[in-house]
Amino acid sequence: MNAEEKLTIAVAGGTGTLGRGVAGTLRSRGHQVRVLSRRSREYRVDLTTGEGLDRALAGCDVVVDASNSTSPKGAARTLVDGSRRLLAAEEAAGVRHHVCVSIVGCERVPFGYYRAKAAQERVVEAGPVDWTLVRATQFHELVAGLFTSMARFGVLVLPRMPLRTVASAEVALAVADAAGGPALRGRIEVAGPETADVRDLARQWRSVTGSRARMVPLALPGAVGRAVRSGALTTDRPDVTGTTTFVEWLEERERRG
Ligand SMILES: NC(=O)c1ccc[n+]([C@@H]2O[C@H](COP(=O)([O-])OP(=O)(O)OC[C@H]3O[C@@H](n4cnc5c(N)ncnc54)[C@H](OP(=O)(O)O)[C@@H]3O)[C@@H](O)[C@H]2O)c1
Repeated sequence: MNAEEKLTIAVAGGTGTLGRGVAGTLRSRGHQVRVLSRRSREYRVDLTTGEGLDRALAGCDVVVDASNSTSPKGAARTLVDGSRRLLAAEEAAGVRHHVCVSIVGCERVPFGYYRAKAAQERVVEAGPVDWTLVRATQFHELVAGLFTSMARFGVLVLPRMPLRTVASAEVALAVADAAGGPALRGRIEVAGPETADVRDLARQWRSVTGSRARMVPLALPGAVGRAVRSGALTTDRPDVTGTTTFVEWLEERERRG
């Protein structure tokens, strides 16, 4: 596929935080985009059953999988088994390129959701369709959302954990670039411009939002604690580096209201 070619691209999870940005970027570049999800108006699909996939993928050149489910059962059914179903339907439909969105360092954190993401990557790498994996670090949106949820209880419970958070809009650009290009049978890693401990991110969040939530340190035990403390979810050498810092992203969000 050359960069100028106009493609028909299905975005599974195209109604989600990342998927919306991917679908919008691809449309703005002139591609035909189909948004697939359980609540999509156009292409209702359920990755846990395969319902709707055949119709949704007929005539597609490329599939981006930006679906997500974070509960242990949901992650296994949607991300791992769902990828198998999606890839089988893609093979039947003659899809040429599968772009899977994953997480930097997921294989280094022995915890349910990250294990499922690493298993999803293996399914894609061994699957029947040529692939590209775009791995991102945690989105600014995710971290701000977690702080907001905890602050409703008046506290921010914070393990020590370096993160290199990134704006989902910048990840969406990298995913759209991958979807418009050739299948790499390899990985692209996307990260934000700076690494900061989650406690520093919480301080920044309190200062921008004016929250008075109390910061409570948490010592995460065991192998998961050791992994995240040692920076398992970050990278020093991303292939693509976003430019928007967490503070800049927060300030922009506050300005927009
Ligand atoms: N959030 C982060 O910080 C982050 C960081 C790095 C990488 N990622 C990766 O980025 C991807 C997208 O994450 P996100 O945070 O944007 O997800 P999200 O906002 O939770 O969106 C999930 C999407 O998946 C769809 N979906 C869920 N279950 C489905 C099912 N059974 N069948 C079909 N569609 C289903 C949802 O739509 P319906 O509910 O309508 O089905 C929605 O469109 C994931 O692969 C995630 O691992 C996320």
